[in-house]
Amino acid sequence: MYVCICEAVPDTVIRSCIARGASTVDEVGDACGAGTGCGSCHDHIDVLLTASYAPSEIAGLPATA
Ligand code: FES
Repeated sequence: MYVCICEAVPDTVIRSCIARGASTVDEVGDACGAGTGCGSCHDHIDVLLTASYAPSEIAGLPATA
């Protein structure tokens, strides 16, 4: 599903950026452009970052958040 509408970036691309080392919203933006428009997706990108770096804390969230 698309996380960033402005730049048409799906969660799979953001997860790939995180897997390759992006650890902040800005770094995800640098890697794939997500979050570089209106900024309304920053919270969603943050959820993906948190899920990647602290999965046990949000184990109850769906995998495609
Ligand atoms: S929805 Fe991501 S920058 Fe606008």
